[in-house]
Amino acid sequence: MNTSTEPGLLVVRTVADLRRAVAGFRKAGRTIGLVPTMGALHEGHVSLVKGALERGDVPVTSIFVNPTQFGPKEDFSAYPRDEEGDFDKLRDAQCRIAFAPTKDEMYPGEQLTTVTVAGITDGLCGPLRPGHFQGVATVVSKLLLMAMPDRAYFGEKDYQQLQVIKRMVRDLAMPFEIVGMPTVREKDGLAMSSRNRYLSAEERTKALGMYKQLVTVADAVRDGTKSCAEASAAASQALRDGGFDIVEYFTVVDADSLKPLEHVAGPARVIAAARLGRTRLIDNLAV
Ligand code: PAJ
Repeated sequence: MNTSTEPGLLVVRTVADLRRAVAGFRKAGRTIGLVPTMGALHEGHVSLVKGALERGDVPVTSIFVNPTQFGPKEDFSAYPRDEEGDFDKLRDAQCRIAFAPTKDEMYPGEQLTTVTVAGITDGLCGPLRPGHFQGVATVVSKLLLMAMPDRAYFGEKDYQQLQVIKRMVRDLAMPFEIVGMPTVREKDGLAMSSRNRYLSAEERTKALGMYKQLVTVADAVRDGTKSCAEASAAASQALRDGGFDIVEYFTVVDADSLKPLEHVAGPARVIAAARLGRTRLIDNLAV
């Protein structure tokens, strides 16, 4: 295996090879930036790699569709997979290491240990996706311990996930800096997502309603023309009228605790999840 720090993307499949590759860069005095992903990469993922490069880190991107964070009725087997396309995108983005383990490499033998973050998982996606954040916290813990990066990069697109990871790292005194990166959007405002490829042309048009309603609610609660509950209820109705099948939540929360707010006093987030056909979309904006 090429363990040198010469240019190009090194693809590793085992924890041992990952550690060897990381050690090579460390020996050369470099810092490491981990970008955990489930593949089907798009510009949102690439922005995290760029974030690592901007901070001087050697970017290490993991690609692993983690079965433990999908519910029994969720899209694990249908989740988009395009490993060669992902490696091409990582090469273009100047990523240096791609870690693409098998399920057995990530979860060898019987696994008895999980990581649970309470409280901030009680609302929003938590109750709607039982076990999801435990699956995320556990796999991210493992990826962090496998790569031992200086920093790890996560998107604000998955805002509750970002808060869960920040809290886990703080509570467990994990020696990694968690960097939150802004949501990358299509030209019209739709948040980029691997799941957008499930949308039909008609659904793609309707999907934009979510971003528009987030902007509307953020404006209304910022200038105080509506209470958070009033503005959110109007937005949910507008989404249903605009062709969304189910609005799972549309709410304004404290940016740190994720507790619902009635009026905005400090940093807040307007955050939503809704279904369009078989696709579940989530998005959020700072207020
Ligand atoms: P995945 O959905 O592939 O996302 C990987 C990372 O990319 C996450 O930090 C996510 O927030 C970020 N991301 C996705 N879309 C983005 C966008 N439009 N702009 C900016 N960042 C974006 O999230 C996961 O995978 C998994 O739960 C994972 C953390 C890898 C654990 O399995």
